[in-house]
Amino acid sequence: MALDDYREELAATAAALAQPGTGLLAADESTGTIGKRFAAIGLANTEEHRRAYRSLLATTEGLNEQISGVILFEETLFQDSVDGAGESGPPIVELFQQQGIVPGIKVDQGVEPLAGGVEGESWCTGLKGLAERAARYYARGARFAKWRAVLQISAHGAPSELAVRENAWGLARYARTVQEQGLVPIVEPEILMDGDHDIITTASVQEWVLRTTYEALALNGVFLEGSVLKPSMTCPGADCPEPASPEEIGAFTLRTLSRSVPAAVPAILFLSGGLSEEDASLCLNAINQVAAHGYAPWHLGFSYGRALQHSCLQHWGGSDLAAGQAALLARARANGAASRGAYAPGSEPSDDASLFVANYSY
Ligand code: 13P
Repeated sequence: MALDDYREELAATAAALAQPGTGLLAADESTGTIGKRFAAIGLANTEEHRRAYRSLLATTEGLNEQISGVILFEETLFQDSVDGAGESGPPIVELFQQQGIVPGIKVDQGVEPLAGGVEGESWCTGLKGLAERAARYYARGARFAKWRAVLQISAHGAPSELAVRENAWGLARYARTVQEQGLVPIVEPEILMDGDHDIITTASVQEWVLRTTYEALALNGVFLEGSVLKPSMTCPGADCPEPASPEEIGAFTLRTLSRSVPAAVPAILFLSGGLSEEDASLCLNAINQVAAHGYAPWHLGFSYGRALQHSCLQHWGGSDLAAGQAALLARARANGAASRGAYAPGSEPSDDASLFVANYSY
């Protein structure tokens, strides 16, 4: 099969991920990253605990009202579920499918230091054998993929042109490769919040990064109608002395996107990037309120990891399924409303802890 055989299906999958009032649950933390989350609640990073936690997510009734798709880590895609009593159940992927939640898969294999770049810069690995892996994931039920490229803004010259071009090219090669296997690519050029730069700096860097990324996608013949963008919001650096309000973030984000993202892309699903749960909802809400008064051809939703799961993990604590699921549903409802521009601040419970982690790896 080739890309042409999949165009209709890719566009249908992307449209399913772009439904109004919905977004994605990013539950694709690598084994190392989920271990850090478990450590914070005093839980050992064992396969059984990972299985129990991801089963909790998959058995949350009503999650499909605001969650159109879920991004899984490879282990979870091939794992059977377990219920509260410790009994094995159907594959986790099937539980999501039964709710009408489209399963997706993280296909990048992490970042490596970028030789020739500025200190701290990285390139994203995972192209070798990608077509074969993507075919295997499709056969198991995955219908979309994710690849996270990471860029940073620093006083010593990051991002370098090398980093911008290398990461754009990697995203484009990945996107083309998985489309050939029937998977919708989530194109994720994350710009980290690390640093003290202001929002204007982020906006100009992000325009450059997105322009370069879409140029590379065009050169590789990526079918935009069957793709999704997952950017960071246009925020000031975490240490910027002038913090921005959600309304400013909304206005700058829309300006950046309208200057650089083709209208053929059906959905822009933001990452939370270290914003607190409530801030992630407020900013998404503001983005949609600005969009309602201007030009925005795309669905503007969410693809949150930390901002959907933080309270859930705390309330679950390794044993309390019902409390964990209630916390997950609360943040799903908040972000579902925010993706319509209809979230009333504070109307859903959240943990207001800062979720920012310096130089975050996924
Ligand atoms: P955060 O929402 O925690 O930033 O994670 C989303 C994600 O999938 C990053 O690749």
